[in-house]
Amino acid sequence: MSQILVTGGAGFIGSHTCVELLKYDYEIVVVDNLCNSKSAAIDRIEKISGKKIKFYHADICDYDALNTVFKENDISAVIHFAGLKAVGESVRKPLEYYTNNIYGTLVLLKAMRDNNCKRIVFSSSATVYGMNNEAPYTEDMPTSATNPYGYTKVMIEQILRDCCIADSDMSVVALRYFNPIGAHKSGLIGEDPNGIPNNLVPYIAQVAAGRLEQLSVFGDDYDTPDGTGVRDYIHVVDLASGHVCAIDYAMNHSGFEAVNLGTGNGSSVLEVVAAYEKACGKPINKRIAPRRSGDIATCFADASKAKRLFGWEAKSDITEMCADSWNFTKMNPNGIE
Ligand code: NAD
Ligand code: WQD
Repeated sequence: MSQILVTGGAGFIGSHTCVELLKYDYEIVVVDNLCNSKSAAIDRIEKISGKKIKFYHADICDYDALNTVFKENDISAVIHFAGLKAVGESVRKPLEYYTNNIYGTLVLLKAMRDNNCKRIVFSSSATVYGMNNEAPYTEDMPTSATNPYGYTKVMIEQILRDCCIADSDMSVVALRYFNPIGAHKSGLIGEDPNGIPNNLVPYIAQVAAGRLEQLSVFGDDYDTPDGTGVRDYIHVVDLASGHVCAIDYAMNHSGFEAVNLGTGNGSSVLEVVAAYEKACGKPINKRIAPRRSGDIATCFADASKAKRLFGWEAKSDITEMCADSWNFTKMNPNGIE
């Protein structure tokens, strides 16, 4: 069976994707430097799946370490999650973001080339649609960014496109995730952010758990049905299954494809709060606050390309996503440890 190298496999989306890959009997090798995750996540993936993972505690910027991983294994494809992802932090630390995300990807691509590995599924983001397109977003829209994090995704997509032009055997699927939330049904893996969460659902979860006082709803005067921001929330397990489809696709095709992974539906901040209140059975303390700079009113996917190319579509609705997030939060009051 093929071995898949999963960079960033101990993280939120990576851990769920590892579980999904193991379900389909892929052998996996994880490389993670644990800068935003814990090795306990690897134990939990093994517990859920009843299977073993080969884990390298290494940095993707370290060519020798990656080269060793390729030499010691028979890697047929890479799923590349490893990266820094906090938008606000990227504005304060652009050099760290460009180095880790872009230089790290270049090192990975060089190690792949030197070891004749030509397939990669990359974690891109709906952030590449920037501020100037209108939802629903289709993959042929022009890409742009408003912050260093977003630029890393735009630039890495371009680098990957150029690699496909240079080598016609190369196969790249850039998956543009919308807003992944939720957790595995077991409650063993989920989103475990360091410090105060930036994203909506992890923040609500901590208010529900009594760890944070109050949610600030960033703006209620957007041009949306209830005035609050609308996003395309997608269950992380649905997202994970999209990666298995993308790997299968990459095994049988060459060239570059960008593919949205979203549900195609938008939910407002207030709708998410209401769904979470239903899941946890208590009110979420909230106040209306000013808009957050850089936010747009509405963002949701046209999800038809993933269906056409992979036969994939998201299954879970926002109620189930919030229920699974709450289950994980309750079961892990101190995160994954
Ligand atoms: P995460 O932080 O939970 O996972 C990323 C993992 O990569 C972590 O385990 C971290 O330790 C590891 N890592 C970071 N830099 C590394 C390096 N230099 N070498 C080795 N390991 C490294 O984040 P996530 O939410 O699972 O996101 C995974 C990917 O998906 C990221 O590339 C992110 O930009 C992208 N993405 C995430 C979202 C989201 O909302 N979560 C949305 C769109 C795209
Ligand atoms: C969702 C909605 C906020 C927090 C970010 C990145 C994007 C992608 C996914 C990686 C918005 C509102 C939020 C809060 C709030 N990541 N909100 N109070 O901004 O859509 O996307 O994560 O690629 O690049 O930008 O997600 O969860 O931060 O916000 O009212 O405390 O919730 O204004 O409308 P966003 P989010």
